[in-house]
Amino acid sequence: MRLVLNAVSKRYPGGVTALHDVTLDIGPGMFGLLGPNGAGKSTLMRVVATLLRPDSGSVHFGETDVLAAPGQLRQILGYLPQEFGFYPAVPVHETLAHFAALKGVAAAGRHDVVESLLARTNLLGVRSRPVGTLSGGMRQRLGVAIALSGNPQLLILDEPTAGLDPTERRRLYDVLLTMAAECVVLLSTHLVEDVYEYCPAMAILDQGQLAISGSPLAMVQALQGQVWQGPAGPAPAGTRALSVSYEAGVRMSRVLADHAPGAGWVPAAPTLDDVYFLHVGDRALT
Ligand SMILES: Nc1ncnc2c1ncn2[C@@H]1O[C@H](COP(=O)(O)OP(=O)(O)OP(=O)(O)O)[C@@H](O)[C@H]1O
Ligand SMILES: [Mg+2]
Repeated sequence: MRLVLNAVSKRYPGGVTALHDVTLDIGPGMFGLLGPNGAGKSTLMRVVATLLRPDSGSVHFGETDVLAAPGQLRQILGYLPQEFGFYPAVPVHETLAHFAALKGVAAAGRHDVVESLLARTNLLGVRSRPVGTLSGGMRQRLGVAIALSGNPQLLILDEPTAGLDPTERRRLYDVLLTMAAECVVLLSTHLVEDVYEYCPAMAILDQGQLAISGSPLAMVQALQGQVWQGPAGPAPAGTRALSVSYEAGVRMSRVLADHAPGAGWVPAAPTLDDVYFLHVGDRALT
């Protein structure tokens, strides 16, 4: 099944246009959403998760018209919001059982489902602890476990790796890649390298608009031979500043140019960071 957004726009009452004419076609597998703070990633996810009605445009998941039949989508949706709260005194396993029940997991099999979710998110060791006593990363993983419950066909995760240590981050991607074999996994993150590593498809949002979408590999390959690294300072004439990088503490400039910008400049292998900074325009650090 595919998730298809067509010309989706959303303006908040305060006057901010958080989404402007966003069209995206997302197939099964992992899809990474990148973009600066305030780009509209969470707004897009809330629209798809049926928590926010767009001003115009349409959203379809397979045959389901998401805006016309939000209840239908909710039955097959797993959603991790960027921010969420729990009742702090309730133990981890009870919290998870509660949400599993809401997702329609029958009482008979619920215990096994909860145990399996706790195992997949590495929370078995803290299963009896009140949620209020968890560390930030453990809390985040409980949020992920809730999103995974009820066998969703569409999984929307808003910065799922926020606060996770490197081991838990990899463990989470292992779980998500397994899920992605049979469902659409839409995730947002600020870790550009994670998108490169784990997502065959991605998009960059900037100021509510879709800057680019497609395969990260192809985007990086398209910059082959055009990225140069040289002395810090203003970008030389005829080049486009990408960002800065550091080598052993020495600040270097990265620019985009058809040929070597001058003495002291060396070719650099393009990365998805370069693609990102090329598309977030004046938000890049130069
Ligand atoms: N409830 C709201 N009322 C008014 N404006 C809002 C509301 N929520 C978000 N915005 C604004 O909409 C824009 C997009 O916000 P959004 O949360 O979607 O960005 P984001 O890409 O998720 O950013 P971040 O990376 O910081 O999570 C921002 O300018 C934000 O200030
Ligand atoms: Mg957000």
